[in-house]
Amino acid sequence: MQLHLSSWPEIGKYLETSKAILIPIGSTEQHGPNGLLGTDALCPEIIGKRAGDEAGILVAPTFNVGQAQHHMAFAGTISLRPSTMIAAMFDWAQSLNRHGFEKLYWLNGHGGNIATINAAFSEIYHGISFAPAGSNRPPLRCMLRNWWELPGVSDVCRQLFPVGEGSHATPSEVSVTYFGYPEAQKKVEMSPKIAPTGPIYDAEDYRKRFPDGRIGSDPSQASVEAGEKIVAAAVRAVIAEFRQFAAS
Ligand code: NI
Repeated sequence: MQLHLSSWPEIGKYLETSKAILIPIGSTEQHGPNGLLGTDALCPEIIGKRAGDEAGILVAPTFNVGQAQHHMAFAGTISLRPSTMIAAMFDWAQSLNRHGFEKLYWLNGHGGNIATINAAFSEIYHGISFAPAGSNRPPLRCMLRNWWELPGVSDVCRQLFPVGEGSHATPSEVSVTYFGYPEAQKKVEMSPKIAPTGPIYDAEDYRKRFPDGRIGSDPSQASVEAGEKIVAAAVRAVIAEFRQFAAS
């Protein structure tokens, strides 16, 4: 069940049975020569939507632009400042909480978002604690889950790609997007086959160290079939964890 494809009476009815919602959150940033700019937003969206369809979980619109500053030297990347992202997440949470949602499960697709998401949670909880006494705010809990850390998922990725998984523009994440959007697949020869690794500083330095955008990976291994296996494992884990969180 997707919020943006529902009517308000349908959401009202959902709230009679559950106060929990899944919010895919990611980034719009370069993902190497064959990876989609939307990869980090599409992965949690694809996994979240399937979990929603299978288990009746309500899925929010995707928060699809995040912390992508170090990718800004590549065309198409869009980034929010941390302060902007915190403010936007705060308003999303306040809006949902206003309607009675008390459990916000943020399914994240981008490692660079983690620090800011946790800062936003702190801002959201301050919003509740600083509310005037007697304002009768409903309780609110936020949970962050990075999809690649869902139980069982990294085992599947390791089996599929024992070599060249790397840490950015990985064959695993590219496979998930190819499974979701097979028509968007791109065939590109990687040179070098496996990308260099190293530290991340600012955007210009990043482009010098990692000229085609990849870090440590060979995403030419990506396939629809691999994506299907990864998504299946992730969906199973999301459903179990979401149910536990909703009932907590
Ligand atoms: Ni990514």
